Amino acid sequence: MNVVIIGSGGREHALALAISKSKLLNKLFCLPGNPGTKNICENIEITPNDFTKILTFSKSNDIDLVIIGPEQPLVDGLSDYLRENNINVFGPSSSAAQIESSKSFAKSLMIRSGVPTASYKEFNSNEFKEAVDYLGNCHFPIVIKADGLASGKGVFICDNRKQAEQIIYEISVDKIFGNAGEKFLIEEFMIGEEASVFAITDGEDFITLPAAQDHKRIGDNDTGKNTGGMGAYAPAPLISEIIEKEIQNKIIKPILHQLKSEGYPFVGCLYAGLMITSEGPKVVEFNCRFGDPETQVVLPILEGDVLKLLFSAATGKIDKESVRYSGGCSVCVVAASKGYPDKFEKGFEISGLDIDDPEVIVYHAGTKEINGKILTNGGRVLGVTSVLKYNNLIEAREKAYNAIKKINFKNIYYRNDIALKAIKFL
Ligand code: AMP
Ligand code: GLY
Repeated sequence: MNVVIIGSGGREHALALAISKSKLLNKLFCLPGNPGTKNICENIEITPNDFTKILTFSKSNDIDLVIIGPEQPLVDGLSDYLRENNINVFGPSSSAAQIESSKSFAKSLMIRSGVPTASYKEFNSNEFKEAVDYLGNCHFPIVIKADGLASGKGVFICDNRKQAEQIIYEISVDKIFGNAGEKFLIEEFMIGEEASVFAITDGEDFITLPAAQDHKRIGDNDTGKNTGGMGAYAPAPLISEIIEKEIQNKIIKPILHQLKSEGYPFVGCLYAGLMITSEGPKVVEFNCRFGDPETQVVLPILEGDVLKLLFSAATGKIDKESVRYSGGCSVCVVAASKGYPDKFEKGFEISGLDIDDPEVIVYHAGTKEINGKILTNGGRVLGVTSVLKYNNLIEAREKAYNAIKKINFKNIYYRNDIALKAIKFL
């Protein structure tokens, strides 16, 4: 098979590496890819928003499957466009991708399908007064969320009424999120531990992959601003077999059924961001794609053929036997540019990338290559990842940290507590 991966982050590097191992693979391309994917496949300078070029490239290279990594092209309708032109795609239609692009859509869908989630109330941006009045009935903390895509910056946990009023003002009057804040939600604050579960689905049938835990905040002990994710590990011991079954039966199954029955079958990777509460797992959010950095730890602990899995899901009948959990474990520590998720500098040379250890993968995210040198080119620069064939998160954690200490660039920053929660839990 000839396969295209769309995107250029750590997630796409991890997808490329997993797919490069498939016996079904003939040629693998990454559009546009990064210096990490360049070593495994052919990078082609086409950006994810250039739909016509992606189609032309796919037609002229006999592409059997296009796998779409990031949310924006999914939300913008890249899958629909390619499917209309008879290209097989792993990734949902733009209507189904609303499950990520509109929190209001996702919440009402959850209510209609009986999926457990935080209680909430929705407001339009012209309802400043109504929203502020509603705060009178709330127990703090509460969570305020802009409806649309806001690069992970649209969620606020407010400890008191004053803070909440300020946020409501900024969203509805100052319009800090523009259209993404045309609607906003005030949500109950859920208490528990978070986990991420990927369901691979053909729109009806599905399998879930081993659960991971992300580390969203910039600082140790979950302090500071939210980021795209500063590290992850898998499998998450928090997700017992019983909880996994509950997630499948009470969350994934009913939501997929509801999407299909409303005319938006979801084909691709449905990412469930979960809070494991004392009442069981509840949904924090859904994403319409693989998570990043979670993909960097979930794919390496699968045995079997990831391409077979994604191709079968994309073409109508998922092959549920194509992959299984390997029995191993993985820890990824993100090396970021100091200043991220706010302002940061880039263009610094990275040293120490040639780590000679078969149990370490250095995924590239925000890097670029100039004259044979690898330079920093983003907030999240690398995903330094250990992969063990057996499940020992203590050893995997040590290995990932030993590896990241050998890597250097100006302004390197990483969290020191990735996977500690799992070790404490064990
Ligand atoms: P989201 O972008 O919806 O995943 O939210 C970002 C982060 O905010 C989540 O990973 C949680 O840590 C936190 N969060 C969002 N909604 C809630 C909620 N209802 N209760 C508690 N924490 C939440
Ligand atoms: N790691 C969180 C996300 O991919 O949205």
